[in-house]
Amino acid sequence: MQLSRRTMLTSMAAMATIPRWSFAAEPRRTLLAYYSYTGNTRSVAERLRADIGAQLLEIRMEEPYSADIRQAAERSKRELETGELPMLLGDPYDISDYDLILVGGPVWWNTVAAPVMSFLERTDFRGRNVGLFATYALTPSHYESNFAAQAHNASFLPALMVNEFDIANGRSGDAVASWAMRTRSKGGPKTL
Ligand SMILES: Cc1cc2nc3c(=O)[nH]c(=O)nc-3n(C[C@H](O)[C@H](O)[C@H](O)COP(=O)(O)O)c2cc1C
Repeated sequence: MQLSRRTMLTSMAAMATIPRWSFAAEPRRTLLAYYSYTGNTRSVAERLRADIGAQLLEIRMEEPYSADIRQAAERSKRELETGELPMLLGDPYDISDYDLILVGGPVWWNTVAAPVMSFLERTDFRGRNVGLFATYALTPSHYESNFAAQAHNASFLPALMVNEFDIANGRSGDAVASWAMRTRSKGGPKTL
């Protein structure tokens, strides 16, 4: 009978004399940052967190948007047009402990929602793998390219775009689960 690689490595480790220096495999860590105004992106983020086992970070603003969606829409449009992006709570974020950063948000005005833009502007992604996911009503439009331009020093994994009607009708689960599986292999805990 052939021993599995894991069994072989486990017995080799047990037989080995204890070295002077031992190098424990550091688990790779994943941060899942998201912004959500009406809850769609939050539901995707929570599903991903359950599947991937990431640390969850909700992107929150110093001055949240009005609950009146028309006022929120006007303000966010102005922020995106002028580039005067909202200040965030907890900023600046230290992502140095994480190898893989997942960033989610809604499509607003054909692009990345202003709080997510703000998060990207203030975070240094150099040397990090970034997986972006977004929710939208009609079309993701320029979300992905504008995201990549803002977080220009990151390495990107394939993106996940989820239609809000699929979320409402319970049809997004498979796409989210399969993205989680592919993404986990890039950043989940190292296994032998
Ligand atoms: C201010 C605003 C602008 C939006 N602009 C777009 C858009 O340009 N294209 C689109 O497909 N959906 C657009 N939407 C719909 C959202 O992308 C969609 O409802 C998303 O799932 C909301 O995510 P959330 O519930 O996490 O906030 C917009 C919604 C808001 C509130």
